[in-house]
Amino acid sequence: MKPRERLAALRAQSALGGGAERIQQQHAKGKLTARERIELLLDEGSFTELDAFVMARPTELIADEDRVTGDGVVTGFGRIDGRNVYVFSQDFTVFGGSLAEGHAAKICKVMDLAVRNGAPIIGLNDSGGARIQEGVVSLGGYADIFLRNVLASGVVPQLSAILGPCAGGAVYSPAITDFVAMVRDTSYMFVTGPNVVKTVTHEDVTQDELGGADVHAERSGVAHFEADDERSCLALLRRLVGYLPANNLDPAPIVPTEDPWDREDRALDDIVPEQAAKAYDMTDVIRRIVDEGDMLEVHERWARNIVCAFARLDGRTVGVVAQQPMVLAGVLDIDASIKAARFVRFCDAFNIPLVTLVDVPGFLPGTAQEHGGIIRNGAKLLYAYAEATVPKLTVITRKAYGGAYDVMSSKHIRGDYNVAWPSAEIAVMGPEGAVNVVYRDELAKAEDADRRRAELVAEYVERFANPYVAAARGYIDDVIEPHATRPRLVAALRSLAGKRDRNPAKKHGNIPLRR
Ligand code: HXC
Repeated sequence: MKPRERLAALRAQSALGGGAERIQQQHAKGKLTARERIELLLDEGSFTELDAFVMARPTELIADEDRVTGDGVVTGFGRIDGRNVYVFSQDFTVFGGSLAEGHAAKICKVMDLAVRNGAPIIGLNDSGGARIQEGVVSLGGYADIFLRNVLASGVVPQLSAILGPCAGGAVYSPAITDFVAMVRDTSYMFVTGPNVVKTVTHEDVTQDELGGADVHAERSGVAHFEADDERSCLALLRRLVGYLPANNLDPAPIVPTEDPWDREDRALDDIVPEQAAKAYDMTDVIRRIVDEGDMLEVHERWARNIVCAFARLDGRTVGVVAQQPMVLAGVLDIDASIKAARFVRFCDAFNIPLVTLVDVPGFLPGTAQEHGGIIRNGAKLLYAYAEATVPKLTVITRKAYGGAYDVMSSKHIRGDYNVAWPSAEIAVMGPEGAVNVVYRDELAKAEDADRRRAELVAEYVERFANPYVAAARGYIDDVIEPHATRPRLVAALRSLAGKRDRNPAKKHGNIPLRR
């Protein structure tokens, strides 16, 4: 065969992966191939492939004719909206996308390139885990990847799409990455599949029940995003990349907006109901403040009492953290604390300013939360906010009670611009609780305890449950009209463009980790 013919033949062979029949099976399952996914993820025609000729290493268990060119993963670099990214896409048609020595080496190579060249790394996962035939070599390959995931953490954004069954080692690498996106009905993540579960615990469970997109997006919190199909999942990753800087030293891209920086929104003046117990939708508040009402929620279905979202102000990416009064009155519980802590740390690692909207009645009381470790988990959010040195803007819309006041980006833990709406209530606890504690003896003796309690509550609200006690101390910088929130935040953000803040030199801190 002539040299150029040989090249063409090898390329064609590599492009086919596990062959036409297996590609057909992949399509029949409603899944795309590794290459089709890359085409959809990247700007048209921008993909440059690397290592197409890497072969599975010879082993006793794999016949020579089964050693597929490319070794079950397509790797390389390309562009998203003109910006450089590195990508690997596992090919389920080759040994179920399982990971072996050559396969792992290819992934490690693009991860190294991503870190060296300061660009995001995106993994499209579709894999049965360690390739059984290669034994410990596969385990070593996974460990090589895990190490790189950890070293890349906080240096370049790491994004994972789960686009098929991901089992065994195939779940731990995505778990270390910054964001995991899953597809309903075709993607699964579990450490051990249904067969092993049946053997060990005698439980009968389907792949979907064990580790489908709904389970991980709503119950475990392992998935940050879920999509109805692969196309929308890949489109979502493109959108996410648009909010992010390429690495921890570069700024996030500025997206020019038609939305005037000083736009006021009168609807915000009436959005907080007069009755303290009534809910309102905090996502409506966020949309009215940010550029063009556009935001991308992270963990939209998990721990819904707190909202974490990327949005833009003045064309610049911000990370928004906000209580959602519509769910559990916006209380801080274990899951909400963990969700927001990870988001805050991501934003801080990548120099994305934080905008925090506070309406929090406090931490959730009760044995379930205490025994589950709300102390340690609430501390994670406190730790994350205190540690963050990015610009921190805080708006208290209504309640800021107790420890939750301190935690939610307060002035005391280096909030840069802290303001409150006139409806804000900033105090150690809510009026009812406070009156019951402070006036317990008086109320026990009172002839008409209910009337006296109502009087004392009204007095407490007047004296303490307002923003002016905090404003008098400078704990909040201003009390603002709700309609002016956007211009105030943009002005503050502009003033913080040159912010320099550092934590003391250390190897690393010791965030309370246990759940
Ligand atoms: C080698 C594998 C494989 C693997 C799948 N295949 N997983 N080959 N090593 N780990 C092969 C199958 O033999 C089959 O080949 C083809 O891929 C397609 O698989 P199917 O089972 O037909 O597909 P499906 O029914 O969709 O089921 C997919 C699956 C299942 C759920 C992933 O294959 C499965 O349970 N695989 C094993 C998963 C697992 O236990 N992995 C853990 C490995 S240990 P043929 O030729 O028959 O079509 C691990 C530890 C790492 O990863 C630890 C690091 C911390």
